[in-house]
Amino acid sequence: MTEPLLCVRDAEQAAARILPAGIMDFIAGGSEAEVTLAANRAALDAVFLVPRVLTGIAHSDPGTTLAGCRSALPVAIAPMSYQRMVCPEGEIGMARAAKEAGIPLILSMMSSCPVEEVAAVGATLWQQLYWLRDRGLVTELVRRAEAAGCKALVLTVDVPRMGRRLRDMRNGFALPPEVTAANLRGPDAALLHRPTAGASGVAAHTNQVFDPSLSWADVAWLRETSPLPLVIKGILDPADAHRAVEHGASAIVVSNHGGRQLDGAVPSATALPAVCETVEGRCEVLLDSGIRGGTDVLRALALGASGVLLGRPALWGLASGGPDGAAQVLSLLAEELTEAMHLAGCADVASARNLRAR
Ligand SMILES: Cc1cc2nc3c(=O)[nH]c(=O)nc-3n(C[C@H](O)[C@H](O)[C@H](O)COP(=O)(O)O)c2cc1C
Repeated sequence: MTEPLLCVRDAEQAAARILPAGIMDFIAGGSEAEVTLAANRAALDAVFLVPRVLTGIAHSDPGTTLAGCRSALPVAIAPMSYQRMVCPEGEIGMARAAKEAGIPLILSMMSSCPVEEVAAVGATLWQQLYWLRDRGLVTELVRRAEAAGCKALVLTVDVPRMGRRLRDMRNGFALPPEVTAANLRGPDAALLHRPTAGASGVAAHTNQVFDPSLSWADVAWLRETSPLPLVIKGILDPADAHRAVEHGASAIVVSNHGGRQLDGAVPSATALPAVCETVEGRCEVLLDSGIRGGTDVLRALALGASGVLLGRPALWGLASGGPDGAAQVLSLLAEELTEAMHLAGCADVASARNLRAR
């Protein structure tokens, strides 16, 4: 008999029992010595909350809005590429789980399902963008996302090139033939499927198609190009947060890409307070990298975030039980957060953001 999942973290073992080692490594891995990957957890674990007592609260309500969208939790699912690698339904399955949980799903530009089919599920959908050498492809996807009813654009700014992910390089990692970047056309996709000793096919593809010179001028162009709310993901420096506000961002995501880009980058939870201080409520501040349970969400709120993105745990859920497995992870997260809010004396997200953290 398989063990029941009792917490979000249990989903990792459940996924590891099912996924091939190379795919598990692709998901779990960080860059280089994985110092930032580990530091993300250590920084969250080092945040201690000061609960309030005798508040008379019988229920806590984790509902909120994120970039103008109602959400049952202060949580959106982080953009993660190629989800058909872990489950045949891929992003369509993840959208079913997001819909059931009542939270937004951020669809990766490198989705393995077409945006129109994912949107048809009816979850709140935001489209993530990388910056490609072929700007025509970026514009085309923006137009498709608008037409499909996406509610925000999320520009990821921490991948001018791919971090050195040694696990993938050692595994000569390549995508299975049936999994590809469904929203991009072009001949470069062949690189994704080419196993090469000592190199990652995903990195080869990324470095071929991404524009390495993304700048604030491109952010300004995107802001002009679409009326959708703009979320800028991958900010750690307060000065960059300030510029993001000046460039009309509705939200920023304080993120080091789950420790997958610059190894040695500051943990997100460490960077968050100074960013919130600089932004002074002029845009929403979300956090990702290392969120593994309801207490982590509460920690992020107490440090000043409006919400978080959930990364790897959502994929573990999808891998271990398909859409139902992902929904189960999200329902555990909701349960953990609601219980933690109650234990801390917080009736709602606004009061959680006033909780003291040490
Ligand atoms: C397998 C995988 C694929 C990812 N693909 C993308 C992507 O396509 N676009 C993006 O902006 N971030 C991507 N990320 C980064 C996540 O959006 C998020 O920043 C990170 O996973 C957060 O860290 P966590 O997994 O520790 O919660 C990916 C992360 C993983 C683990």
